[in-house]
Amino acid sequence: MFVEGDVRDIGTCKKAVQGCAYVLHQAAIGSVPRSIDNPLRTNDNNVNGFLNVLVAARDEKVKRMVYAASSSTYGDLAEMPKVEDRIGMPLSPYAVSKYVNELYAHVFALNYGMQLVGLRYFNVFGKNQDPNGAYAAVIPKFIEMMKKGVSPTVYGDGTQSRDFTHVSNVLLMNELALFSEDERVLNTVFNTACGQNTSLLELFEMIKEQLLTKDAGFDKLELKFETERLGDVKHSQASIEKAYQILGYKPVTKIRDGIRELVGEL
Ligand SMILES: NC(=O)c1ccc[n+]([C@@H]2O[C@H](COP(=O)([O-])OP(=O)(O)OC[C@H]3O[C@@H](n4cnc5c(N)ncnc54)[C@H](O)[C@@H]3O)[C@@H](O)[C@H]2O)c1
Repeated sequence: MFVEGDVRDIGTCKKAVQGCAYVLHQAAIGSVPRSIDNPLRTNDNNVNGFLNVLVAARDEKVKRMVYAASSSTYGDLAEMPKVEDRIGMPLSPYAVSKYVNELYAHVFALNYGMQLVGLRYFNVFGKNQDPNGAYAAVIPKFIEMMKKGVSPTVYGDGTQSRDFTHVSNVLLMNELALFSEDERVLNTVFNTACGQNTSLLELFEMIKEQLLTKDAGFDKLELKFETERLGDVKHSQASIEKAYQILGYKPVTKIRDGIRELVGEL
């Protein structure tokens, strides 16, 4: 059964999870800058919506729920790579909302005996990601612009780095977390990443390199620079050791292969 609806409506959530043994919860308003522009909307969807899904899953006796948490929860912690049990202070309303998800999952597991697993996604990218608008993610945005021969803009000096994670790795983590029989998987969080960091300068070069295999004219592409954005963390790289030890996770697609796939045919 396909139910289209809003997680802010508890009735819809109950209908959606009725009779389900497993729930994979992804719905949220993404983007750090969007949450700074409109914190009420982010909180309403990401916190109230999440709580509704939890209550519905509890009432409908769902066996296990895996939910999308976020690397933004590491906040201002400078230490790298990020290890699950050490976080900093959040830097945006979005980060607060995703951390609150983890806290609610913790108390629902404690009080209602639910099986809940959080996956802290790190900068996910893949096919069909929206390249348009002020809140677009950097990879689809850069590729779309560069394919058209337009030089993309970076906020800051471009040395900021991310653990860009192809969506195939995220799918694998969801599957492993959902079906693992290891007790250590329950009521905890896992970094969902590649364990590798790439600066925006490197990302730009990687995309350009792929484009140059199609047409030498892309050589004139250059990065443009603008002032840094509020709420952005400087560097982000995950330790994927916990996911490897408990779930046997190994990334299936590295950034360069993911970029090659996305640049694809011109
Ligand atoms: N993309 C990333 O890099 C990244 C990183 C960390 C965490 N996450 C988390 O992963 C999940 C998926 O993110 P995404 O990047 O695919 O974002 P997305 O915006 O592409 O997808 C989110 C989906 O949630 C839906 N949604 C939003 N509010 C809703 C509501 N009230 N009711 C029902 N549906 C609603 C949207 O319509 C959209 O289809 C989110 O929970 C996000 O916070 C994503």
